Amino acid sequence: MSLLTTLAPLLNLLAAVQSQAPLVPERASSVARQVDLLYYFLTAVTLFFTVVIFSLVFYFAIRYRRRSPDERPRPIFGSLRLEIFWSGVPLIVSMVMFFWGAYLFYQIRVPPKDATQLFVVGKQWMWKIQHPEGQREINTLHVPVGRPIKLTMTSEDVIHSFYVPAFRVKMDVLPGRYTELWFTATKAGEYHLFCAEYCGTKHSGMIGRVVVMEPADYETWLNGAPAGETLEEGGARLFRQFNCHTCHEAGPTARGPSLHEILGKSVRLRSGETLTVDEGYLRESILQPSAKVVAGYEPVMPTYQGQISEEGILQLIAYIKSLTRTEGTAPQP
Ligand code: CUA
Repeated sequence: MSLLTTLAPLLNLLAAVQSQAPLVPERASSVARQVDLLYYFLTAVTLFFTVVIFSLVFYFAIRYRRRSPDERPRPIFGSLRLEIFWSGVPLIVSMVMFFWGAYLFYQIRVPPKDATQLFVVGKQWMWKIQHPEGQREINTLHVPVGRPIKLTMTSEDVIHSFYVPAFRVKMDVLPGRYTELWFTATKAGEYHLFCAEYCGTKHSGMIGRVVVMEPADYETWLNGAPAGETLEEGGARLFRQFNCHTCHEAGPTARGPSLHEILGKSVRLRSGETLTVDEGYLRESILQPSAKVVAGYEPVMPTYQGQISEEGILQLIAYIKSLTRTEGTAPQP
């Protein structure tokens, strides 16, 4: 990007200022540097045009001021070259911003396939985190350096927003829906975790920390933290407790569709539509079973609204996912 090369001295100056008096938070994720570069670029472009425009305004005001009451300016009939120049340059600059921004947005939004999935539930006013191995944390998130982490998040009440400035990532956490956020931490240390959406009286107190550890330390932490049952085991227990198996694992005559290998599959609904089964659809089917019934089945499933917590639903999803991943090796309900 030649524009970037042109702006290199300015970027270096900003980097020097940053090292003495930080303008931006620490950079601790794989995307942080790129996000900062884009912001420096936007700032540099804005400053450049502000200076040019204001200088010209003052220069023209003085140079072409009216010098006597009867002075009449020469009429001007436009200049095609000038018009093309001042339309073309902003077009190029804004297209650079657009493609650069879109590229980065895509990087930040699409998690790598091998990312480790953790679950986050926001509520007034705390963050609840569940690791696949069963560890639970409140307002603290332990992650290893260098491993892509994907958070699947929902809220028990109002809209929150999961925000880790040092990672340059932020995502709304919504009631009744799953949102995703991913990052790869690149530097061990402790970083701020904020709620970035006003969510009631103690919104400003809905804070926590992300503890990034070297992989070996992380393993030690993982083994030391009380695990209890894993997400899948918890899901298997709930599956049994709510008698899901009586309808969903009863063979060809079952009243409900089999849940084996269902996640990621596309299914036909009674309405004739087809949809791809994802976490959101599983959640909806637990809470509002008659909303989207699979073709060939009757809407006979009762709702589990109010009987199962958001965390319980996440456990059930983890269990159903384990049926998808490796049939037969999932914990038996
Ligand atoms: Cu949760 Cu603000």
